[in-house]
Amino acid sequence: MGFYEKNILPKILNAVMKAPDLTDIRVQLVPEATGRILEVGIGSGLNLPFYEGDVKITGLDPSVELQVYAREVADSCGLDVEFISQSSEEIPCDNNSFDTVVMTWTLCSIPDPMRALEEIRRVLKPSGQLIFAEHGLSPEGNVAKWQSRINPLWKVIGGGCHLNRRMDRLINDSGFKFEVLAEGYIPGPKFATYNYRGIARPA
Ligand SMILES: C[S@@+](CC[C@H](N)C(=O)[O-])C[C@H]1O[C@@H](n2cnc3c(N)ncnc32)[C@H](O)[C@@H]1O
Repeated sequence: MGFYEKNILPKILNAVMKAPDLTDIRVQLVPEATGRILEVGIGSGLNLPFYEGDVKITGLDPSVELQVYAREVADSCGLDVEFISQSSEEIPCDNNSFDTVVMTWTLCSIPDPMRALEEIRRVLKPSGQLIFAEHGLSPEGNVAKWQSRINPLWKVIGGGCHLNRRMDRLINDSGFKFEVLAEGYIPGPKFATYNYRGIARPA
């Protein structure tokens, strides 16, 4: 990992991911999480203030730099979060061990998203839920064309973030069915703001 990824990108992500439009989505989705929860790509812990009730949270993320922020948020919320510094393509947890997996704006950055979703499905209980919010491929041809053009540069500055992943298809093809799926732009440049969010369950 280079100087940019270790020292600059975590600060940028922690600031950018606090955008009010993203917080609005966190406020809607995160309280739906129940029971034993795995947050995949917990980042700087920006979902933590929005969990409600009697929950037990495990946060997985390969970035130890972002984990420093997440630990501070957990402390300030009085949450006892178990942190795992690892990629989601190999989740070091038992089969059927979580009631909820939460994943927000993370699938775009995972090198092998199908593998990660298979792992998420493995560790989710059959009755469990995947709560997600992800940006991805726009259905507008002209925007999608620009997403593909910008993607190579975006991946470099965005820590491996892809602009043009078809998130609904990835989730569906990994053995999930949607209970709730909402799609659409949030405010901002169209190439980065087409969002897929909702709740999926093992099919
Ligand atoms: C844009 S940030 C989002 C962070 C957080 N989920 C949020 O909503 O603010 C993308 C996150 O994906 C994480 N990430 C990148 N590759 C990953 C992988 N292979 N497995 C799990 N998380 C990964 C990054 O470290 C980063 O925390």
